[in-house]
Amino acid sequence: MTLRLNGVVRSGACEPRELLSDFIRHELGATGTHVGCEHGVCGACTVHVDGVACRSCLMLAVQAEGRGIDTVEGLASGNTLSDLQDAFRRHHALQCGFCTAGILMSCADYLMRVPDPTEDDVREILSGHICRCTGYTPIVEAVLDVAALRRNRSGEKEVSHA
Ligand code: FES
Ligand code: FES
Repeated sequence: MTLRLNGVVRSGACEPRELLSDFIRHELGATGTHVGCEHGVCGACTVHVDGVACRSCLMLAVQAEGRGIDTVEGLASGNTLSDLQDAFRRHHALQCGFCTAGILMSCADYLMRVPDPTEDDVREILSGHICRCTGYTPIVEAVLDVAALRRNRSGEKEVSHA
C-alpha cells in the first residue's frame, strides 16, 4: 500500500489486519509515534490523517491507502522545532516523553481549529491523553503560551498590513 507520510510518498507491505500505528513504526520506520494501550485510551499513538488528529491504533493500515499521514517527525523544519514543540521545551512539558508525540499531534490539530482556547478547553483536550510524568500543568501552560504567541504574531501582521 502507498500513503503520503509527512508529505513524502511511501509504500510498504502490510497484513490486512495490521494497525496503522504498527505499519508506520515497523514498515516505514517512523518510530516517533508511540504505542501504549492499543485500544484508543492513552493517546500516545495520535497522528494526523488528512490533517485531522486520529488514534493510529484504532485504524487499520489499509484504511490509510492514498491518504496523508502526518506524524511528530513532520512537525519540525529540519533542526528547527515547531513553535508548539519549542513551547513544550521551554515549559518542561515532558519528562520521559512517551506521551509527548501524541499530545503534540492532538494539540497541533486543536490549535488550528481553536486559536484562543481557555485553560479548561486545553485540559479537556488533554483528557484524551495519559501522561504519567508531568502532572499536566506544564503541558497546559505550553499550549496556552503558543496560542497566545500565535495570536500576537497574527495581530502584528494585521497591523503591518493596515
Ligand atoms: Fe493508541 Fe493508546 S496506543 S490510544
Ligand atoms: Fe512521561 Fe508523559 S512525559 S508519560
